[in-house]
Amino acid sequence: MQDGTRAGLVRPPVESPYLRPRRLRRTPALRELVAETTLRAGQLVLPVFVREGADAPVPISSMPGVVQHTRDSLRAAAVEAAELGLGGIMLFGVPTSKDAVGSGAVDPDGVLNAAIADVAAEVGDALPVMADLCLDEFTDHGHCGVLDAAGRVDNDATLEVYAEMARAQAAAGAAVLGPSGMMDGQVAVIRDALDGVGATDVAIMAYSAKYASAFYGPFREAVDSSLVGDRRTYQQDARNALEGVREAQLDVAEGADLVMVKPALAYLDVVRRVRDAVDVPVAAYNISGEYAMVEAAAANGWIDREAAIMETLVSIRRAGADVVLTYWAAEAARLLR
Ligand code: PBG
Repeated sequence: MQDGTRAGLVRPPVESPYLRPRRLRRTPALRELVAETTLRAGQLVLPVFVREGADAPVPISSMPGVVQHTRDSLRAAAVEAAELGLGGIMLFGVPTSKDAVGSGAVDPDGVLNAAIADVAAEVGDALPVMADLCLDEFTDHGHCGVLDAAGRVDNDATLEVYAEMARAQAAAGAAVLGPSGMMDGQVAVIRDALDGVGATDVAIMAYSAKYASAFYGPFREAVDSSLVGDRRTYQQDARNALEGVREAQLDVAEGADLVMVKPALAYLDVVRRVRDAVDVPVAAYNISGEYAMVEAAAANGWIDREAAIMETLVSIRRAGADVVLTYWAAEAARLLR
């Protein structure tokens, strides 16, 4: 046994006695030469919130620096995102009125569909316009689907609404749809719905391995969610990694163009396993709670904010994510310049 407390150079038994890894860390240029992981603006997607009827952006207190946009301020944010060369912008709607079936989600004039049209008109193909495809922002009970008579989330009834929502988002001009409701069969139903109206070019980025997570907390404020209870009958159990791989494989079989793991940081092992198991691009969502933790620690002077942001994004890429959704996308793109 090597004595790790011994002074001097400790050599693992099977390594060459000549290896000194510090040689390649000596200068920034050498470190650049051997860096294994890249981070580009084009790999980052900016999630944004748009609030119906807002006449000024509304700050989200649990996500310092993030706002609920007005339709105008969202357009400006999209132009900036395109100029920065981001890989996409992911839209979430915050409607003024909600009901049991999430009617606002399928209404062509609903806040999300109207915002998709705004942004698509503004940036065209220069910035992929992505839309969250889920009912939780639009339902008064806050669940991702419609409920049956017993108050349970009804999988197959929800799929019918998702199909209609997909057609509405495609008609509004979305390039990529992000089904995030974790209903079984959602990707196949959405693919069929899109193909049925000739929207064969609209891609699906499936939230495949989406875990029931405490780290979504700030998002609930961001979308004025009225959820009572939890999403554990449809989102995954944190103890399961193989199940995440199976969910991703199912979504690929159903026609997903990209698959996603979410959250990112507490699930980096799942990101790696999914990356190794499928042959489509893998995205990971650096979610609201992950953002809030870094911002809160930085605001207290406990960590170096910019260094922590970049280390976070690199770690998600290193785990195997090809695409990273992050509220820091625009700032990171600026730092990368
Ligand atoms: C569901 C959805 C959620 C998030 C993205 N899409 C919330 C949830 O499933 O509870 C969370 C994003 C974040 O926390 O940053 N529409």
